[in-house]
Amino acid sequence: MKKLILLLISIVGLCFVSCGSSSSGTDSSASDSLQSSAKETQTKSSASEGDSSKQESRSTDKSTLVIYFSRTGNTEKIAKYLIELTGADSYVIEAAEPYTDDDIHYQDDNCRANKEQNDKSVRPKIADPIKSIDSYDTIFLGYPIWWGEEPRIIDTFLESYDFSDKTVIAFCTSGSSGIATSEKNIADLVKIGKQLEGKRFAADASKDEVKEWFESLPLNDEKSESKLLVSVNGKELTASFADSTAAKELAEKLKEAPVTVKLEEYGGFEKDKDFIVK
Ligand SMILES: Cc1cc2nc3c(=O)[nH]c(=O)nc-3n(C[C@H](O)[C@H](O)[C@H](O)COP(=O)(O)O)c2cc1C
Repeated sequence: MKKLILLLISIVGLCFVSCGSSSSGTDSSASDSLQSSAKETQTKSSASEGDSSKQESRSTDKSTLVIYFSRTGNTEKIAKYLIELTGADSYVIEAAEPYTDDDIHYQDDNCRANKEQNDKSVRPKIADPIKSIDSYDTIFLGYPIWWGEEPRIIDTFLESYDFSDKTVIAFCTSGSSGIATSEKNIADLVKIGKQLEGKRFAADASKDEVKEWFESLPLNDEKSESKLLVSVNGKELTASFADSTAAKELAEKLKEAPVTVKLEEYGGFEKDKDFIVK
């Protein structure tokens, strides 16, 4: 078994001398066949089926969900940049009783939005709640700032799901107010696995600004530590991805489908491989 583990480590981290090509210079009689699958990729891609129709399915990152509420489109624009950048699934929070222009006419003390923001216990109903967020590890949560805080409908959303094992990252748009108060409110309201520092954007923020922020998040480092679940003749092993082009290539292929790795002797001391995606 020890030998096999070493072998797997060499698959993921070391050899790949002929990455992507056929196995030159090999003994064609010796071959092993490994069925491998990325734990994360397999579970995530099937688990989102059946969720709300508002949840658009994206192909790349099935462990991330971008959720947002936007009444006049500013936050939506930022959210869409983020969705494009991450390839994440998305879900739009809409009020069961939609906010009219009068409802958000905040110069009027008695408008609906002002009344809601003045009462921390108000929980506006969501039109078509997403059934589950269980299959996601990372939640981006976007909203406009209303009177220095998150709109109360965001609180409705937060109290409807379990975030205790999620990484949550807020983002918002506003005229000028920052995001800090709303982030504190969110942290006080529900138990969150990990809350990363969010960001406030101006209504006219560019896609490059969003990209720069996204790339600065410590998220991407964590992802490179994904584990690989490998099944060999009914036995399961886990391996880590090395920081190499070949390992990244394998990770990409695992997003498409389970991968069979055909191993062959190479130079009598290490294994050469072919990736076969089914
Ligand atoms: C009821 C209400 C309260 C608002 N309060 C603030 C505020 O306190 N500070 C601020 O900078 N902008 C405030 N704004 C402006 C919005 O945050 C800003 O226009 C935001 O980009 C709207 O996002 P949306 O288009 O996604 O709805 C407020 C807007 C509304 C409707």
